Amino acid sequence: MIWRAQDGLRARVGGPWTREKLDYVGRYAAAFMKAMHPKRRAGIWSELVYIDPLAGPGLGIARDRSAEFDGSPLRALNITPAFDRLFFSDLDARNIEALRQRIRPDQHRRVNLRVGDCNAVIRNFMSTLTHKTLGLAFVDPEGFEVKFGVFEALARRRMDVLLLFPSGIGIARNLRAFARQTHSPMDDLWGRTRVA
Ligand SMILES: C[S@@+](CC[C@H](N)C(=O)[O-])C[C@H]1O[C@@H](n2cnc3c(N)ncnc32)[C@H](O)[C@@H]1O
Repeated sequence: MIWRAQDGLRARVGGPWTREKLDYVGRYAAAFMKAMHPKRRAGIWSELVYIDPLAGPGLGIARDRSAEFDGSPLRALNITPAFDRLFFSDLDARNIEALRQRIRPDQHRRVNLRVGDCNAVIRNFMSTLTHKTLGLAFVDPEGFEVKFGVFEALARRRMDVLLLFPSGIGIARNLRAFARQTHSPMDDLWGRTRVA
């Protein structure tokens, strides 16, 4: 669900679990940068990057409208020590436009924003990374939008990957239907089709 936030731009409506998820991602990203920044200074890594291929509009709103909170891209941008480059994409151009407007002018030079399907855009992001790049990717689908190829692309470089696995929202609700299909969205996520 999308509502309008106080800044006049679109924002995702989220429950307490959304904020809890984002808090974990933010804490992981901060620990990642704290641990890897000295290795970047030592030249072991030439750059440290963050990839968020399903980035959303940048802001969330509590269902009871009691609070607005930063989404994953804005949290990653505000981590210190800072990521060298951040890659954000979303299928919905309105989300990318809202996110673009929410990024501070002094942060834009570090950011690569793209409208598009994460399953295609990811290859473009990865093609710009050298072998001395270390990355953190946050893959945060609503259901089964992400196919296994995204992980194959991410694996071309040294990359920590945090995946929101759609166990409740996607699998529990759809498992019976998926089991009757010769090829289901779950097969696309796993990267292989069942043989029996
Ligand atoms: C769960 S939300 C991400 C929320 C975000 N992490 C945050 O903190 O606000 C998933 C986003 O993926 C986008 N999306 C859906 N299918 C996509 C696809 N195939 N490629 C890229 N983005 C997609 C949706 O428009 C939505 O904004």
